[in-house]
Amino acid sequence: MESLFADEAFDRRPEIVAPGAVWLPGFLGPEAQSWIIARYAEWQAGPVPPHATAIAGHPMSVQTIGLGWHWRPGRYDRRADDVNREFVLPFPDWMKRLGRQVLQGATEVVDDSAGFGPDAAGVWGFDPEDYHPDVALVNYYDAHAKMGMHQDKDEFDPAPVVSLSLGDTCLFRFGNSETRNRPFTDLRLASGDAFVFGGPARFAFHGVQSIRAATAPDHGRLDHLGGGRINITMRTTGRD
Ligand code: SIN
Ligand code: MN
Repeated sequence: MESLFADEAFDRRPEIVAPGAVWLPGFLGPEAQSWIIARYAEWQAGPVPPHATAIAGHPMSVQTIGLGWHWRPGRYDRRADDVNREFVLPFPDWMKRLGRQVLQGATEVVDDSAGFGPDAAGVWGFDPEDYHPDVALVNYYDAHAKMGMHQDKDEFDPAPVVSLSLGDTCLFRFGNSETRNRPFTDLRLASGDAFVFGGPARFAFHGVQSIRAATAPDHGRLDHLGGGRINITMRTTGRD
């Protein structure tokens, strides 16, 4: 109960976290959350299983599945030569449509505040219908996993990144484009939340500080995985 009240101390309305970075709490309804969680069970079956990508020789604490492309630091390949030499699953069409819907939602939030800055088309550089993500990195966090502050900069196309959270809540840190340090904003990404970073926020450092065990709502529980959190980030590689 204590953690429930603590969560409520955080505002869960759509919010522009930084210019170009928009948080959409509860974007996915209960059914959509459990449907995507069921898709995760299919992705887990391969051909490329969830794996801990090595960064400078050290395995990450998250387990990643790539859809569309296989990611390693600095590169995207169709085949996972460092895992089992299998080709990755395709990037699903439904996910592209969902990405556009999230971007449309973020666009409305930005346009509503446009009196204070550029409108969304100006911020993202295009309309949501022209969003063509071609890779999703699906990360599984157990209760102890984290992700250090980093930039998503292995894509040649500057289109926004759309992120979806499922399962347990995490403490997410969204910073600036210059350093891993302050200024940054900490927020709690819960099951069903969407987050977009594009335009001036596209290369901002960000990371996951911690997972708050056993905080998932019933429809977002990852019981078959022993709890934890799934994050999906869709990106546009600009590669072919
Ligand atoms: C990432 O930065 O790739 C993942 C962020 C998250 O898990 O919310
Ligand atoms: Mn990232």
